[in-house]
Amino acid sequence: MVCTLAGMWFLLQTYLNTSWKSISLRSWFGSSVLPDSSASHAQPQTPQHKCSNLKSCPPNHFAFKIISGAANVVGPSLCFEDNLIMSSVKNNIGRGLNLALVNGTTGQLIKTESYDMYSGDVKHLVDFLKTIQDGTLVLIASYDDPATKMNNEARTLLTNLGSSYAAKLRYWDNWVFLGEKGRKDKRRFEKLMRIDEETDKELKLPVALRMEGCVPQK
Ligand SMILES: *[C@@H]1O[C@H](CO)[C@@H](O)[C@H](O)[C@H]1NC(C)=O
Repeated sequence: MVCTLAGMWFLLQTYLNTSWKSISLRSWFGSSVLPDSSASHAQPQTPQHKCSNLKSCPPNHFAFKIISGAANVVGPSLCFEDNLIMSSVKNNIGRGLNLALVNGTTGQLIKTESYDMYSGDVKHLVDFLKTIQDGTLVLIASYDDPATKMNNEARTLLTNLGSSYAAKLRYWDNWVFLGEKGRKDKRRFEKLMRIDEETDKELKLPVALRMEGCVPQK
């Protein structure tokens, strides 16, 4: 039952472009929707793909999976080329924005950082974003609150990585993004889930946003 609901939820995520819409998740409350359904593990006969993704990637592509935190309950996780690079288990995530930098040519992990966007100083995020070199892939997952301390400079720097939602990100949004510094034609590796503020703000729904795919090697 739970699995079915979780499966339906992920289908919903896929087929509705829920991005940037205010949606009420009220009806899902109480259904124990898990952030990382093991739907792909449920059938042992299906081949294992990198990051346990549903599809394998073509040659010269990197597999990735980015899962946001579920409210302030379950931490986010970032997988790149079958390596779990950020997760609760690795103990390298935090409330706010979780970022991983990867060399877009080699796929090598450069750095992971998290910035508290509720009570931290946004200057640290801005400084970090300014150090990113051209050709770097930037993977981002929100956890809890991604936006309270956001300022225009941070929003602009994130927008320059190819984000469409950074400009309007707000309190309690779930956001997952993969961008690239210095890339002119922007790809759309990004999802946003906005909880209906009026009805659901105080419920802190433990629902995660997930995105998986293949990014071409530079
Ligand atoms: C990626 O790795 C290559 C090969 O080591 C290096 O030449 C390049 O400068 C690196 N790029 C970034 C953005 O780190």
